Amino acid sequence: MTAYNMIDDVERVLFSEEQLKKRISEMGAEITKDYAGKEILMIGVLRGAVLFMGDLARAVKVPVALDFMAVSSYVGTNSSGVVRILKDLDEDIKDKHVLVVEDIIDSGLTLKYLLENLKSRNPASIKLCTLLNKPERRKVDVHIDYNGYDVPDYFVIGYGLDYNERYRNLPFIGVLKPTVYE
Ligand code: IMP
Ligand code: MG
Repeated sequence: MTAYNMIDDVERVLFSEEQLKKRISEMGAEITKDYAGKEILMIGVLRGAVLFMGDLARAVKVPVALDFMAVSSYVGTNSSGVVRILKDLDEDIKDKHVLVVEDIIDSGLTLKYLLENLKSRNPASIKLCTLLNKPERRKVDVHIDYNGYDVPDYFVIGYGLDYNERYRNLPFIGVLKPTVYE
């Protein structure tokens, strides 16, 4: 595989590594307070949420267990609207305090489907935490309990977010140059 230059494809940085760190520690403190005396089962939506989830879990001071789900995602920059479970949870969530962790909520289609599916498994509680939210693009209502940042309608990459599997390991969140996908 020939390497591509990640930085060359970034139009600008939206949230620096330092900003992300600070925001995630605030989110972790809020979650810690809300779940005092409880144990959390974080469910990460593969693959974009993995980096955020790792840092968020470490910022939370109550016990956290981790599980993952994979759902059919975007091809390129557009949502197909069709949601399919590619990988289900390994554990039963009945009577557990579930916190779904997402990288970004865009149309909301993925999360709406996922939350309904998880609720039918009778968890003790279920909440949603996302690092980024793109309200302008919403097609269906989704209630977000913990939101890192609202972002405008740009295609963003880094800190777990990809464009065709690239840029996930950028330590910041940036806007992808439109020339990359146009
Ligand atoms: P939704 O079903 O439209 O809300 O799509 C959510 C999923 O689309 C996220 O979990 C991301 O994987 C992907 N996605 C949406 N917008 C972006 C973006 O700007 N950059 C990278 N991935 C995105
Ligand atoms: Mg993605």
